[in-house]
Order: sequence, then C-alpha cells, then structure tokens
Amino acid sequence: MCGIVGYVGRQHAAPLLVEGLSRLEYRGYDSAGVAVLTSGKPRVVRTVGRVRDLEAAMPKRLAGTVGIGHTRWATHGPATEANAHPHASEDGRVLLVHNGILDNAAALRERLAADGVTLASDTDTEVLAHLVSRSEATSLEGKVIDALRQVTGTYAIAVLDADHPDRVVVARNGSPLVLGLGEREMFIASDVAALVRHTSQVVHLEDGELATVTASGFHTFTADAASVAKTPETLELSAEELEIGGHQHFMHKEMHEQPETVRRMLTGRLDDRFATARLDGLQLEPRELRAFRRVKILGCGSAYYVGQMGASMIEDLARIPADSEAASEFRYRNPIIEPDTLYVAVSQSGETADTLFAVREIQRKGGRVVGLVNVVGSSIARECDGGVYLHAGPEVAVASTKALTHMAVGFAMLAVALGRVRDLSFADGQRIINGLKQIPDQVAAVLEQEDAIAEVAKKVAAAPSLFFIGRVRGFPVSREGAQKFKEISYRHAEAYQTSELKHGPLALISEELPTVAIVPRDDLLQRNIGAAHEIAARRGPLLVVTHDGVDLGELDAARIVVPKNEDELDAILLTIPLQLLAYHAALSLGHDIDRPRNLAKSVTVE
Ligand code: F6R
Repeated sequence: MCGIVGYVGRQHAAPLLVEGLSRLEYRGYDSAGVAVLTSGKPRVVRTVGRVRDLEAAMPKRLAGTVGIGHTRWATHGPATEANAHPHASEDGRVLLVHNGILDNAAALRERLAADGVTLASDTDTEVLAHLVSRSEATSLEGKVIDALRQVTGTYAIAVLDADHPDRVVVARNGSPLVLGLGEREMFIASDVAALVRHTSQVVHLEDGELATVTASGFHTFTADAASVAKTPETLELSAEELEIGGHQHFMHKEMHEQPETVRRMLTGRLDDRFATARLDGLQLEPRELRAFRRVKILGCGSAYYVGQMGASMIEDLARIPADSEAASEFRYRNPIIEPDTLYVAVSQSGETADTLFAVREIQRKGGRVVGLVNVVGSSIARECDGGVYLHAGPEVAVASTKALTHMAVGFAMLAVALGRVRDLSFADGQRIINGLKQIPDQVAAVLEQEDAIAEVAKKVAAAPSLFFIGRVRGFPVSREGAQKFKEISYRHAEAYQTSELKHGPLALISEELPTVAIVPRDDLLQRNIGAAHEIAARRGPLLVVTHDGVDLGELDAARIVVPKNEDELDAILLTIPLQLLAYHAALSLGHDIDRPRNLAKSVTVE
C-alpha cells in the first residue's frame, strides 16, 4: 500500500524513479510524485492520478542523481496534488515519502500549527518533513532519528535533505523497505519489483532500523545509532516474470499461469513412498506435528477465505479441529493462545499489516506460528517460525488469483502431512497425493472453457446484485467467488450458505437477482440441487458451477462444469471458473481490471 522508490548514483534519477513507480503502481495509484536534487536544489513534481500522468507532467530535463518517489493510496486526506508525496518542510529543503500511518499525526499537526508552522496538506506524512527539518541535530541521520522519536505508528520513509545532497536516509517500522545494491549506485524501494531490473543483490531492513544510502553503498543502524551488519541476499525473481507478455491484463496472465506454477509448486513436495507431503520449511518434526491438537489459520480477505478451505481440508484429513479467522480482527479480541495449537498465517504479499500483527501477537504470547506465504523474504515469511513458500511467482493484479490457488494447494499438503502423522491411512494419503498431481491439468481444463464462461459473465454482469451460494466445502468457494466479483466488477455480490437461504435471504430472490450456485458431486449433491430448484421456482436466474455427471433434472440454469477431483480437494478447482467469471464481467463493464477503484495490493496499513 503506497509505493516508495529512491535512487542515489551516477545516472539521472528521475526516469529511474518513474520507471520504479510504474512497477509499484499496484500498491497504490491515486496520485504520484518524485523529488530530485538538481545541483543541490530540490525539484518536486506531483500529480493526481496514475504514474503515467506523472510521467506526462515531468519536465523534459530534470537532471540530478539523487531522488525519491512515491505512488499513493490515500489514508489521510483525498487524492489531491497537495496530499501527494513527497512532502516538504516549510523551506522546501527536506523532502520525504512515507508508507504507513502515523497514529499521533493529529496531535503533532496541532503542535506544529501552534508553533507557527503552515501545514500544506491533510496528510500525516507532512508532519515528519517538518519534524526532520526542525531538529537541531547536525547530521541528516540525527534529524531523522529525532523526528521518529516523536511519532507513533507504522512507517517506511525515505528522506532527502538539500543540506546533505549525497544521501537518502531511510527508516522502517511496520512497512516494508528494501535496498538494492548496484555498481556505484543504490536503489531504494518498498518492494523488490521496483529493483529487479537493476540488481539482484538486496538488503531488507527490519523494523526499528534506519540506513544511510549513498552512491558508494549503505550503512544500517538503529535509533540508538548502533551499526547493524547486513549481508546482501540474491533475488530469486527475474525481470521477465514481471512482464505482462501477450495478455491484456496481469490478472489474465496470472490466471493462465496457474497450471505451470502449481506444477512447479508441487515438484519435490509429494512423497509417494510414505503417501504424504514433504514440507521441510515448516521446521517441525513428525513428533511435533503430531502434538498439535488444533489448527488456527489467520489471513485477510481472500486469504482468509482460502484459510476456510484449508481448515476444512485439515479437519477432513487430519481430524483435528481447525478454523480460519480474519487476522484483521484477531489481535483486537485478546485471543487465547494455546501451546498445542498450530497457528498458520497465510498471505500472498507477506506484508499485510493485519496478518503481520496477528503473527506478532501470537509470538508475544508464546504461540507457534508458521507461514504460507508467496513473497520470499517478506516480513511475514521472515517473522514466522517456519513455513511453506507458495512459489506462485509475482502477482501484480490487485485481484488475487494464482496465489490463492497456491494457498489452497499448500493447505492440502499441510492437511495430508498432519493427517499422515495421525490416522490418515496410507491409501487415503496416496489418494490425496494422486489428486494433487492431477490439479495442474485440471486447472488447464477449466481455463480452456474461458470463452464459454466469458459469455455467461456478460449476462451476469448486467445484474446490479448477485448471490454466490455454497455449503460446507463449497461455502468458502462462494465467499471467494463473491469477493473476486465485487472487487473488479463493482457489483454487489453476497456469499451465503446454501442451507441458510431459506432462513431469510430467499425473500430477495427474483428475476433481477442471479445466483451462482456451487454444486459439487459429493454427499451434499441432492441437497444443493434441491436448493437450486427452490431458487428457480422463484424465478431466480441461476448459474450452477458443478461437476460432470451431475443430473440437474429440469432445472433452468446456465452451467459451468469443472473436472472432479477428490471430495476434499474439490474447492481448489471450483474456484477457478469464478476467477474467469469475475474477470470477464469486469471486462464487459469496461473496468480497469488490474487497478480496481479504492483498492491496492499489499495492504500494509491496519
Ligand atoms: C482479493 C485480495 C485481498 C487479499 C488480502 C490479503 O483478491 O487480493 O483480499 O487477499 O488483502 O492479502 P495478502 O494475501 O497479500 O495478505
């Protein structure tokens, strides 16, 4: 949420900053700006809108080899030029970009105003620029430390000071920040996506750390000015993985990557000899795995819904109680942390603040938490006590698709591993392992139905409101289907347990309200078909997502048929057509699919 870039080196900073911001635009895209030191004088360009608007507004010549930039997702104040970053001190000599939220900004704004400072924006960030500038310390590092002592909240910041033109000082607390090491040049970013074209050597800052960044390198230290030694890591990501290829949207590309990425994820992790999954990254011995009496999954949004799929897989296969909870609520209800519960944090970005804080709350109370995370080296991945990398590759579209499929597959592997150290038989373990092996081809088979799904999607998109219904294993599928639909089509879509419909919401069914019903071929089939008939009897238009061999009788319904897998794994495949449904509905409505309104990928604020 919000993207930060910085550059100190021998090339012109401005084009590099703008290019870096365009790679980070999925983190926020309501306004953008850069500041560059030109012959020691700060020059600032800010615009409302996309990075392409900033690019158009850039002067032809903007020399200078030191600069910072930002793409914003508004927290304090609307998307206006005055609220866009970088923010400046009154004399314009200190410039600052910030990602995160300062909790005591209102009090600090009041104090600054009482001291006669004229505030130029509605933002929390601006106070930091004034505090840095007003510090009496002589070094920029000292000024930044002084300022940070006065604020509470989360931040990643990059600070320029015309009085110290050879450097950018950065700091991190709760929002990601990474340094990229080049030849006599250094890059700064909130996400490696902005660095990967320039370097593969990176250093992640930890919370509470600051760094001085100059053309010749970096120096990391704490707020007590104690040096911190850092060893650069080599990025596994390649620049090509971030290209859109021949696709119209990243979301389209990412949906179509799924067969290959899932195949890659499974490689080396399915163990036919013992009919189990090998998840060495969990760093849990079989004896420890067996000792857990409960599993609690924590994630946000779609990750939370996939967590519900995971909980049901774990209950089915390992027969231990499991549930999934919204991480955004968890730590505020003073949760009871049990020593024999395995906590699992699930996240694509590994930077979602709500999930990260849930991890810390569990650890603070002595619980054991492992991660199911996609982004290697992300905060959640680093802070968990072990985990499983999802290996979905970079996901750029705001609406998550392939990472969620990988989460579901990850949970299936975890469930079989937990089951096989308990009472899941060899035969049942092998049944699930064989089922998992089929997933890549079966996902490909669903994707081949894209044209037919696109036709249905156009019709469904015409309705202002929709139901998505499913029961038991199908309910999280319907929740995720509704979520995807809402995010990019801006249509109201409500997920409901099929079984609960008759307890109230059936009153809403009419010719104007279509229902997408998840009807798997499992032991609830007849009940699900019965509910579909009840909807049809009330003239509700129906789209049934089902398996081959299902006889819907006389039901008047559009149909999407997905390949059948093992009952416990069906949710993985039933979700795939709902991605295509949402995508084509949004496409037919002419929406900006990769950058839906009001949203941003990687929600690094609470
Ligand atoms: C849905 C979506 C969000 C994320 C949620 C968690 O398409 O993208 O609901 O799933 O914000 O994000 P991560 O997985 O990065 O923690």
